[in-house]
Amino acid sequence: MTNFDYLPDRQNTGSYKWDKYKNTDIIPLWVADMDFVSAPCISEAIIESAQFGVFGYSEATDRCNQTFIDYVHEHHQIKPEARELFWLPGLVCALHAVCRAYTQPGDEVITFTPIYPPFLYAPVNSGAKTVQVPLNENDWRPDMQKLREAITKKTKIILLCNPHNPVGICFSKEELAELAKICLENNIILCSDEVHCDLILDKKQVHHSIATISDEIAQQSITLMAPSKTWNIAGLGCSIAYIPNDSLRRKFIRECRGKIPETNLLGLVAGEAAYRDGEPWRLEVLDYLRENLSRLEDFVQTQQGKITMIKAEATYLAWIDFRKSGLNNPPKYLEAAGVGLSDGKDFGLDGFMRLNFACPKSLLEKALARISDCLKES
Ligand SMILES: Cc1ncc(COP(=O)(O)O)c(C=O)c1O
Repeated sequence: MTNFDYLPDRQNTGSYKWDKYKNTDIIPLWVADMDFVSAPCISEAIIESAQFGVFGYSEATDRCNQTFIDYVHEHHQIKPEARELFWLPGLVCALHAVCRAYTQPGDEVITFTPIYPPFLYAPVNSGAKTVQVPLNENDWRPDMQKLREAITKKTKIILLCNPHNPVGICFSKEELAELAKICLENNIILCSDEVHCDLILDKKQVHHSIATISDEIAQQSITLMAPSKTWNIAGLGCSIAYIPNDSLRRKFIRECRGKIPETNLLGLVAGEAAYRDGEPWRLEVLDYLRENLSRLEDFVQTQQGKITMIKAEATYLAWIDFRKSGLNNPPKYLEAAGVGLSDGKDFGLDGFMRLNFACPKSLLEKALARISDCLKES
């Protein structure tokens, strides 16, 4: 059994998450990686590759493609052809490539907010306009009427995040079918970022990959996936775009070649090992995350209504409402209290904070005690 209670000392290891608060006592629960040692099958595959010792230009092998295809067929009921896959060093660069490939300056890209910040700035960086359609605040579900009202002749893409970062919902089959219908009626490309699809915490939920909804929407969509979040290998840069339509795929690849780097050998080795041998570790980490989420929910309940959250159905991110906390600048006060969360403002919604609970229980407890102290003073 994996010991997820073990906290690796990531200080001075070049960790983005920990270095933000270098030489301070602030517990970093912000950027989405986990404070867990990754699955042993991944380290073993990397060691084997390192011992071979040749690190030339690399691409996904037939075996690597087949491993991914088998995994997504078993887990998500899609069966891509290898030629429909394009391996990338990340998904943020994929979001940018999508916006560049399918918009002209002045076109519009719609996304449901609050949202992982690159969804807001990838269209703008590509010369397009981001149009925000707010999720319903009572349950964080999409309002399809609001979506229809936001569509104009200039709308070329909908960027969907399913499961959703930061609110943690899994879009239902009905919601996706409605979304697909809207895209097909309006000739809008649907880009579905499914990087969190293997992190379903609520056992009553299932992930529906957009390409399973219908052949028509499969032909008008881009599905983005990666082993990075699930197996904690984001620093190795290995992601996949699944684009069944030949013309869309050609345009996308044209926007990638020469503009973003090729995938690196060790990322591919790690990704293949994760999809082939990482299932036992994934199941274990999910159980640990469920316990952390449950602890966090209990904690929130005891804070006299100063903070609230809805239960995340997926991801290891909790979206917490601090608007009744009495703190006029929650990020600042929480950092002063020794906890670093992500500021909701960056996701398009002020007054909320995102807490990453993928860490050993002892660290989470320490952070919760600090948040509690901070709220007592507010
Ligand atoms: C929805 C979503 N897409 C993409 C990413 C990051 O992708 P990458 O690190 O592969 O660029 C994240 C990271 O948190 C994410 O939550």
